[in-house]
Amino acid sequence: MTDVEKLLSSCLFEVDNATNTKRLDDIKVAVLGKNGKLTEMLKSLRHMPEEERKTAGAEINAAKSDILKRIEAKAITLEILEMEKKLASEFLDVSMPARVRPSGSIHPLTKVAEEVADILSQYGFVFAEGPEIESEYYNFTALNIPDHHPARTMHDTFYLNYPADSNEGRKLLRTHTSPVQIRAMLANNKPPFRYFSIGRVYRSDYDATHTPMFNQIEGLMVGEGVSFAHLKYLMTDFLKKFFGVPKLTLRLRPSFFPFTEPSTEIDINYEVKNGRIAFGTGDKWLEVAGGGVVHPNVLRSGNVDPSKYQGFAFGFGLERLASLKYGISDLRGYFESDDRWRDAFGFNYVTK
Ligand code: PHE
Repeated sequence: MTDVEKLLSSCLFEVDNATNTKRLDDIKVAVLGKNGKLTEMLKSLRHMPEEERKTAGAEINAAKSDILKRIEAKAITLEILEMEKKLASEFLDVSMPARVRPSGSIHPLTKVAEEVADILSQYGFVFAEGPEIESEYYNFTALNIPDHHPARTMHDTFYLNYPADSNEGRKLLRTHTSPVQIRAMLANNKPPFRYFSIGRVYRSDYDATHTPMFNQIEGLMVGEGVSFAHLKYLMTDFLKKFFGVPKLTLRLRPSFFPFTEPSTEIDINYEVKNGRIAFGTGDKWLEVAGGGVVHPNVLRSGNVDPSKYQGFAFGFGLERLASLKYGISDLRGYFESDDRWRDAFGFNYVTK
């Protein structure tokens, strides 16, 4: 066997046994590439005498074309095989649901705050605000809660490590939005006026129905002859609009707040229908708000003459309203920024 014949047969053997196109390319390079074995043989021809060169050259060229043909044929077989393998392993299911892209959305509380603001504006209530870092004066004293009143401890107040002010007392995180009543009255003109506020408040409390930070809605209307009856009308109409029901019964339970007299706790009627809470029907009661007629001392704190003007005030928990409307039971979800919680309650799309 000549060297060429040996190379030819071992090369054809390797080609026949190649299992993928990559391997085939490697064989081609090793034999026919720039420094391939057969190429080297061709290069060495020039050192041969004329006669020998002719026959050797013919033999090498014949081997080269044999190898090329075999490689080409094998390449086609391998390509078909590889394609079949791919088709068998890669399955395209056009009926599969599309990949979900995470999307931003309006937070449930923002949505509900906007709903509330929309409705209250319809009655001419104007948005007012106050600081979250308040003083004892605005949070308590101006609201007729004297120094040693138990309501101060009932509120589980977070006091701040600031030096106390001689007029306003210690700094604290406001425990309710009622100090906005005082600030709005002081900052503005004579009655009549209607203000509302929505904002964060803080109390040292944490469980399924209490978070140390939550949001309140506050309303205040002052004018000549403004009475408890106006409060009742407004609350009824507001809650009907908010819950989207044609009728709703309110139960006004006598209560106590230092800043209103008389004071009331406001309940609405409901029943559970098909596992969902339905408002405005049934004979069960749920507390939704507190309110009352503004105490004369509070009007005085706001520079309003109580012998001339009267008013009412009310307060809601924003999370509570949102929870009742959207069936959310655990308050803590509002503040944990978990997309799954948000999506589970249907807030995953920007709807406004
Ligand atoms: N500020 C009261 C609270 O936080 C709620 C309230 C507001 C009650 C206005 C009456 C009038 O509990």
